[in-house]
Amino acid sequence: MEKLEVKNLNHHFGFTEILRDINFTLKKGEVLSVVGPSGGGKTTLMHLCAGLLDVEEGSVSNTFASSSFAFQEARLLPWKNVIDNIALGLLASGEKRSVAIEKSREIAIQFGLDENDFEKFPKDLSGGMKQRVSFARALVVKPSLLFLDEPFSALDIGLKKELQGILIDMISKKEISILFITHDLMEAIRLSDEILLLKADPGHIVKKFSYELSQNLRDDKYVYGESAKILQDAEIIDTFELELK
Ligand SMILES: Nc1ncnc2c1ncn2[C@@H]1O[C@H](COP(=O)(O)OP(=O)(O)O)[C@@H](O)[C@H]1O
Ligand SMILES: [Mg+2]
Repeated sequence: MEKLEVKNLNHHFGFTEILRDINFTLKKGEVLSVVGPSGGGKTTLMHLCAGLLDVEEGSVSNTFASSSFAFQEARLLPWKNVIDNIALGLLASGEKRSVAIEKSREIAIQFGLDENDFEKFPKDLSGGMKQRVSFARALVVKPSLLFLDEPFSALDIGLKKELQGILIDMISKKEISILFITHDLMEAIRLSDEILLLKADPGHIVKKFSYELSQNLRDDKYVYGESAKILQDAEIIDTFELELK
């Protein structure tokens, strides 16, 4: 069974302790979210899990067959057009160019890009379009594990819902596993099987929340209801320094 297993993970930048004793397992077909305030070490944790940063103490074991990423900023290559940006991962994995281009065009359409945009360069795209390209690039390789670091944070509500909808469809069909980093509780409740609450200074997990209902059955009412519940939780209030007067 493919899984991502984190054990007794600690991390420092210089003399600053960033993460302390992080433990969790993400199993195939699951969506695991790490939720916490800004500066709490979420991105650092994701980088350690994704192999973008060296593990110094503890262990990260990733047996997923393949993985890809999407971040808050689209991080497109400015000298490549839309289709060539999407095709990057496919070409890197040795796919024939004609096949890679065809697959990239198909997924671009699925992510709401228009044929007229295919030849455009990142500088000529809106923020929303760039994020569509970023998602298409991450998913065209059909990753077994997807790393998402606040990919919806800069998007307007309509596009956020649209992109989440595509993911929810894949999640419900168990086509993908996701490590999802966010500071947005409602977003986490909409997408996750399990939420880990990461408290800051240093980042450590204080609580886990599990959600059983299939993601495609979670309507706004469910999400608002569960959010209202979780906002009563003392650890949530403390972690986010919410003052509910
Ligand atoms: N490369 C780095 N070198 C030094 N400090 C860093 C580095 N990256 C992040 N930090 C610090 O680590 C802490 C956690 O950052 P980060 O993981 O980005 O948190 P989050 O994603 O939860 O906002 C912050 O205080 C940040 O300033
Ligand atoms: Mg971050």
